[in-house]
Amino acid sequence: MKLLITGCAGFIGINFIKYWLNRHAEDTLVGVDCLTYAANKKPLQKLVQNPNFIFYKTDICDRTEIDRIFQTEKPNTVVNFAAESHVDRSIQNPDIFLKTNVLGTQVLLDACLRYGVERYHQISTDEVYGDLPLESGEPFTESSPLKPSSPYSTSKAAADLLVLAYYKTYGLPITISRSSNNYGKYQHAEKFIPNIIKRAGEGIKILIYGDGKNVRDWLYVNDHCSAIDMILQKGKIGEIYNIGGDNEMPNLVLAKKILSILKTEIGIQFVEDRKGHDRRYSLNSQKIKKLGWKPRTLFDEGLTDTVKWYLKE
Ligand SMILES: NC(=O)c1ccc[n+]([C@@H]2O[C@H](COP(=O)([O-])OP(=O)(O)OC[C@H]3O[C@@H](n4cnc5c(N)ncnc54)[C@H](O)[C@@H]3O)[C@@H](O)[C@H]2O)c1
Repeated sequence: MKLLITGCAGFIGINFIKYWLNRHAEDTLVGVDCLTYAANKKPLQKLVQNPNFIFYKTDICDRTEIDRIFQTEKPNTVVNFAAESHVDRSIQNPDIFLKTNVLGTQVLLDACLRYGVERYHQISTDEVYGDLPLESGEPFTESSPLKPSSPYSTSKAAADLLVLAYYKTYGLPITISRSSNNYGKYQHAEKFIPNIIKRAGEGIKILIYGDGKNVRDWLYVNDHCSAIDMILQKGKIGEIYNIGGDNEMPNLVLAKKILSILKTEIGIQFVEDRKGHDRRYSLNSQKIKKLGWKPRTLFDEGLTDTVKWYLKE
């Protein structure tokens, strides 16, 4: 197989490249990334030494360049991780979120149609469903309505709808996956877990939005990679798959867990809540479990390994 992976230098993208090269040594990976602030440039430099990995520093919104890459490389599968991904930044400046996450997706979809790609897989998020109350509420299924709260999640929901439209209108063979919060190596320090580790290391108080009771479901990044692998092998064309970690936790509880692994007495400070802050995300992942996938990493083990990795970095 020849896979084109966009956003290959980002947190999940770089983990996915490593995962795939380890498990599918016969495949060739074509990585595309324009290397924003969120990209992992050092590990990418190492990866390009692998003969099965070809890298293009390209913006997915650049139609001419994307066309040239498809024409040259002729990938049969495309997995689109490329995105602006930080909710706080989307609240400050939504423009780039709409450009990359929606229009960039359209450029890729058009190229897939033009070059007869056999599978386009869109990496989406549980945030497209909006939130649930803390106390109750059935976990979201793939047919739950889309009710995104932030410019980020709205741009992801818009991209999902566009992908579905290309399936229905043009017959493009697509799949979509919506995962919960990922954790693991190579995540940018602005995100919740690495940010806590960084601040604790610098002896600065940990900042928690609102009352810290907001609940997130946490998925180890390698379990996310194996779920995408499963969907590419066994997923049905035109379908959406939720990928949850079966591991819901209030932010404050998670912050305390990290501080306990770090064995630090550093304090926690509650700050003004994020605008439109979703209360709880919860996914029903029965559909992908029926394909034979489940999250394999125990949270306490995955979290401890993750914390140790950031301390060494
Ligand atoms: N991190 C999570 O917890 C999580 C959860 C659910 C879904 N997702 C989705 O997974 C995908 C990857 O997320 P992530 O956490 O790895 O994000 P990230 O911000 O760490 O990485 C995004 C990567 O995309 C690249 N990129 C951005 N704009 C680009 C453009 N115009 N052209 C080419 N490359 C571009 C960046 O340089 C970066 O390397 C995103 O689509 C995100 O919405 C993430």
